Amino acid sequence: MPWGATQPTPVNLSAFTSELSSQLTVSDAQLAQLAERFRLAMVAGLAGQPSSLKMLPSFINRPTGKEKGSAIAVDFGGTNVRVLRAELDGQGACTIQARNRFALKDAAAGYDYTAADVPAEKLFGYIAQQIGQIAQPGVVSPLGHTFSFPCQQFALNRAQLIHWTKEIKTSGVEGQDISALLEAALAKANVTNVRPQAVINDTVGTLLAAAYGQPDVDIASICGTGHNTCYLEPKHPLNGQPMIVNMESGNFDEVPQTKHDRALDEASDRPGFQKLEKMVSGYYLAEVVRTILADLAEQGGYAWGACLTQRQLIQGRDLDNILADKGDLPATKTFMAERLGATECTPELLAAVKAAVTLVATRSARLVAATFAGALLHIDPKLERRHVIAIDGSLYEKMPGYAAMISEGLRGALGVRAAQVSTILAKDGSGVGAAIAAAV
Ligand code: GLC
Repeated sequence: MPWGATQPTPVNLSAFTSELSSQLTVSDAQLAQLAERFRLAMVAGLAGQPSSLKMLPSFINRPTGKEKGSAIAVDFGGTNVRVLRAELDGQGACTIQARNRFALKDAAAGYDYTAADVPAEKLFGYIAQQIGQIAQPGVVSPLGHTFSFPCQQFALNRAQLIHWTKEIKTSGVEGQDISALLEAALAKANVTNVRPQAVINDTVGTLLAAAYGQPDVDIASICGTGHNTCYLEPKHPLNGQPMIVNMESGNFDEVPQTKHDRALDEASDRPGFQKLEKMVSGYYLAEVVRTILADLAEQGGYAWGACLTQRQLIQGRDLDNILADKGDLPATKTFMAERLGATECTPELLAAVKAAVTLVATRSARLVAATFAGALLHIDPKLERRHVIAIDGSLYEKMPGYAAMISEGLRGALGVRAAQVSTILAKDGSGVGAAIAAAV
């Protein structure tokens, strides 16, 4: 039955939901298997063997908490960039003295520094100007740069962008040295009192910021628009020393895809890449739900299915509202009416929509937990020590039930050994982490 038919055909909603549940539910046994596959992919990636995990060295260790002084940080992780000036007290605390946030793209103001026809010099020139505004006149400051894209790192301040992710397309940056681009832009903008010292991933920044005051932190993750995890490798093959490794775990490709995941991947900008990220991160969760609802609409001949071809029609906050919905599901009803124009929804249909969103969110949290379990088993196979996983990002911070589902997933994958592990929110750690990296 094509979309747009006037009369819905009866679709067995409970059969639809139970079929979806069998596709998306990850059992405890599957969690443990995935954790083991993830661990093996880490080992292969570290040894330079083929692996979907890039395992990028960061050339930085966990901080001691004694790092001291003032530093400037740039946090560039998407279309919004933050610059801040921070003071580290040398005893595990950090004070932000000044901060500014600006957009790389603003349709109303008529600019977009992320477009393919914009050269690298223009993008970095704009960032350099913003740095100039926050730098203290007459004071020389080290600068740490959180650059949250996959980079091949050659030293703490030498990082080459492998490829853009998250829809950024500025030309002349892929394959280039990020620090060199920023140094040249600062010189051109006549900002002479700022010295770029470090380029780090946002996961690494989150780990540095959290571990500055809490020494048990040895894994950090972003569960937001994008997804990625780093950890402290106790003995890195490059130098035999502890080093934080950016796994680029969003690219892990050993989780079986459902037909919905395959449809989403094929329609994405980079099919075949970032397969895990496409199942777990905020940007894509809403898209997975959109694909599932399109399927439901097609099976039931619901006219509202027609608008579901539009990318990003469903937003993260819709999922949050639906997950928190109770009783007669008023929020789900509003969502159906306002986003899809479906005003006549039966209670069974609303329940099926809520079940779909719950299944997608639960799978995300459990898959993320499986990757954490894999990393934990790599660093401490018998889980003999305490471990703290620092997490930043909108899913972990705001999605109803998400943090608890991660903990449950850890228990599912690790059993009683999960008692050694806790997760904490490390809000906006990536900016502070860049300041710490600069001070190191
Ligand atoms: C994407 C990037 C990765 C980053 C993550 C979270 O997965 O490739 O480098 O850490 O998003 O921002």
